[in-house]
Amino acid sequence: MRKTGKVMGALLLAAWVGMVQAQVELEDVEAHSGRLSSLRGDTALDVDKDAERIKDPVKDQGIQDRQYMHQPPLVPHQVRGYEVDLKVNRCLACHGWKNAAARNAPRVSPTHYETRDGMTLGDISPRRYFCLQCHVPQTGAKPLVDNTFTPVESLR
Ligand code: HEC
Ligand code: HEC
Repeated sequence: MRKTGKVMGALLLAAWVGMVQAQVELEDVEAHSGRLSSLRGDTALDVDKDAERIKDPVKDQGIQDRQYMHQPPLVPHQVRGYEVDLKVNRCLACHGWKNAAARNAPRVSPTHYETRDGMTLGDISPRRYFCLQCHVPQTGAKPLVDNTFTPVESLR
């Protein structure tokens, strides 16, 4: 009886050591495999993660030079709290053709009314509805990598 007990004990110990080792190895693999962590972090798929705050946006800096033809111009003002969803588009309240003059804001160009097969609509085209998809506000961040890009001669 005592012998069986000892054998059982030894087996349990071996199993436990094995499990701990497997766990350590798994963590090791995750830490060193160069696995990318997603922007969602540990947030489960069925949970909405709060958006990160826009970091130190540059305030009213005036219209910015464009660097190449067809560049979506940079947003030269803060956009915090500007709602853009199914019902409201705060950007269009100033940049839509109806209100731009009264708001002293540049109008969206006619391309914003064109569908992808070249039809011109009477209202903003769905593919140009979510403004911040293309137009970005600026922050004073240091570039992550060196960049030697220079604009074409005619824009310098
Ligand atoms: C309260 C009015 C107002 C709202 C709302 C607004 N803007 Fe503006 N926006 C302006 C004005 C005024 C200018 C011109 C700034 C200047 O001349 O310094 C401007 C400039 C811009 C420009 C630069 C255009 C160019 O030709 O360089 C872009 C891009 C822009 N806004 C995008 C946006 C986006 C995207 C939103 C929504 C997230 C938005 N704006 C909301 C008033 C507004
Ligand atoms: C798919 C990308 C895209 C989206 C989405 C988009 N734009 Fe643009 N926008 C551009 C590009 C590219 C230009 C410059 C060339 C042109 O006019 O098409 C531009 C130009 C502009 C200009 C300057 C117009 C001029 O005549 O110089 C303003 C203002 C502007 N966009 C505002 C907006 C607003 C407000 C929204 C949302 C309702 C929006 N854009 C959505 C790509 C986009």
